[in-house]
Amino acid sequence: MGITTVGIVGSGIMGSGLAEVVARAGLTAIVRSRSQATADAMVASVAKGLAKQVEKGRLTQDDATAIIGRITAVSDLSALADCDLVIESVVEDLDTKKSLFAELDRVVKTGGILATNTSTLPVVELAMVTSRPESVCGVHFFNPAPAMPLVEIVRPLTASDATIHAATAFAETCGKQPVQVKDRAGFVVNALLFPYLNNAIRMLEQGTASMADIDTAMKGGCNFPMGPFALLDLVGLDTSLAILDALYAEFRDPNYAAMPTLRRMVAAGRLGRKTKGGFYDY
Ligand SMILES: NC(=O)c1ccc[n+]([C@@H]2O[C@H](COP(=O)([O-])OP(=O)(O)OC[C@H]3O[C@@H](n4cnc5c(N)ncnc54)[C@H](O)[C@@H]3O)[C@@H](O)[C@H]2O)c1
Repeated sequence: MGITTVGIVGSGIMGSGLAEVVARAGLTAIVRSRSQATADAMVASVAKGLAKQVEKGRLTQDDATAIIGRITAVSDLSALADCDLVIESVVEDLDTKKSLFAELDRVVKTGGILATNTSTLPVVELAMVTSRPESVCGVHFFNPAPAMPLVEIVRPLTASDATIHAATAFAETCGKQPVQVKDRAGFVVNALLFPYLNNAIRMLEQGTASMADIDTAMKGGCNFPMGPFALLDLVGLDTSLAILDALYAEFRDPNYAAMPTLRRMVAAGRLGRKTKGGFYDY
């Protein structure tokens, strides 16, 4: 059975990106937020982004209208009942995700795949709170989801081949490059990326160079599109801290032990671009 209707739970940075990706692929997207107002605001922000693409001549008005027409905003979880696939993309917190998976298992039709967009958390723990662990996997998109080509398809010990094949085919339908990864904290990309980002903060704390110069160095010296501090702000400092904490909890590698500056900035509510201030002001 092909995937034609996709539920997306969570209306943050990744939820809105996922809605656009799914609708652009010609599939039906049902986006669920805890309040109708935030769900509606999310669709409005996707529409605003598409309008900019139309202005720049990268998209026709007809295509933009059709894409938005394929996205429905809801607040009631039971509106996801008929979805072939639901992608959970709420805050990076295992308990929150576990209770959501238990609820999704109750409302989504038999055979529907339940997937998580988690960056680091153990997918098998989400599978095991459901009555369908064989139909649970990770589909880890990257930020910004409409622009980034990669999707890590995460296979917990419990997943069936059919689930992994369907999730891989879905990523391909979305025009993405899927890679299959074992269920380990950080999968491939974040397990390699976050020691680098964390060590950039360590370097700043040690006074090796200024923040702007570290960013300039990594752009100019490695040809990276942005430096580590700009990237931390883009990812979100709360999400970055949650990722490092999950990596440290799994591997106990000191490179994953979050630097104090990061933890203090999150405590101060400086979360990056989404709060208009993180390492830089926006
Ligand atoms: N930011 C990134 O670069 C990135 C990239 C790939 C994957 N992810 C993953 O995507 C997921 C979402 O991250 P994001 O960056 O969109 O975060 P975000 O902070 O932008 O959004 C989080 C969303 O979770 C919702 N939420 C918070 N508490 C909740 C609760 N108790 N119950 C239900 N919903 C709740 C919020 O309302 C919001 O819609 C996380 O698992 C994260 O690890 C993030």
